[in-house]
Amino acid sequence: MRAPIFLCLIELITKKFGREKLDKILSASGLSDNRTYMQYFNGFDFSDVKFGEMVKNLCIVLDITKEQAADAFGEYWICEYAPREYPKYYAQIKSAEDFLTKLDSIHSEVTADSPSGTEAAHPPRFDVEHIDKNILRIHYKSRRRMIDFYIGLVKGIGVYFKTPVEIRKISEEEIEVRMGSTGY
Ligand code: HEM
Repeated sequence: MRAPIFLCLIELITKKFGREKLDKILSASGLSDNRTYMQYFNGFDFSDVKFGEMVKNLCIVLDITKEQAADAFGEYWICEYAPREYPKYYAQIKSAEDFLTKLDSIHSEVTADSPSGTEAAHPPRFDVEHIDKNILRIHYKSRRRMIDFYIGLVKGIGVYFKTPVEIRKISEEEIEVRMGSTGY
């Protein structure tokens, strides 16, 4: 996957939990020195497998669940990392719903813009269906099957736009999102 996803995770761990925890997680993931670390980079990409190992080890070291890790990542990516690194996308987005419906085009564009082209990037795809006012059903397609991260990112959008967001996971590939209301 594109390196920024991994770099964001490193930044989040360092800022929220400290350098010592980061070192423990890196070392448990076989990334303790610069040489091994660089081995998993390929141009602008970082190994999907090593990213998965990092997430597994951070859950152990920080004593949190995968869902909590995904929520922390989602909020940090949406509220801090992406606005700083990709401001041009934020300039076009007006609301939580707007963001959710533009994800396919944002991911295609950001992949095409990346320095090493599209070689190892397989951006997720999202089919958005409007079920009712403020209710979306979204089909998430990715060979990485990171629906927990997807849900964490949707929650991050709610935080960013100060919009209450409720998410129902229908399957590993589908969620329903209600915005600005309660009900599940
Ligand atoms: C400006 C905002 C965003 C940018 C620039 C961005 C960019 C990216 C990039 C570069 C990747 C790596 C793709 C690859 O290597 O193939 C990625 C992965 C991902 N993005 Fe985004 N993203 C943004 C917002 C979002 C939002 C709001 C969501 C969901 C609500 C989302 C969901 C995901 C997921 C789930 C992945 C993991 C990879 C996968 O599922 O295959 N992204 N994003």
